[in-house]
Amino acid sequence: MAAETHPITLRFRGHTKVVPLRHGLGLQVLGKDCEWLEFDCRKADCGICIVRVKEGAENLSPPTVPEADFLKAMHAAPDERLACQCRAFGPLTLEIDDYT
Ligand code: FES
Repeated sequence: MAAETHPITLRFRGHTKVVPLRHGLGLQVLGKDCEWLEFDCRKADCGICIVRVKEGAENLSPPTVPEADFLKAMHAAPDERLACQCRAFGPLTLEIDDYT
């Protein structure tokens, strides 16, 4: 039986890419399919993986304590999440800011 997957739509610099993600997996897995999404510390410490959740916020795992602490300290917008801390349980649309 094939594992359930969800479409994850990623937007960056006016481009869009849709990649499948298995139900319940962490967004870190997307790093191998999408060079737009970068990871470094993977423990809610650096912020390089921040994304804006444009659709499907209800399909993400709730913020971990380290993620909530980091986002609060950074005065992050309500739609911002740290991809390294999130698991997906449904379709998502994520926007990746261009910090370069
Ligand atoms: S990779 Fe550093 S906060 Fe997510």
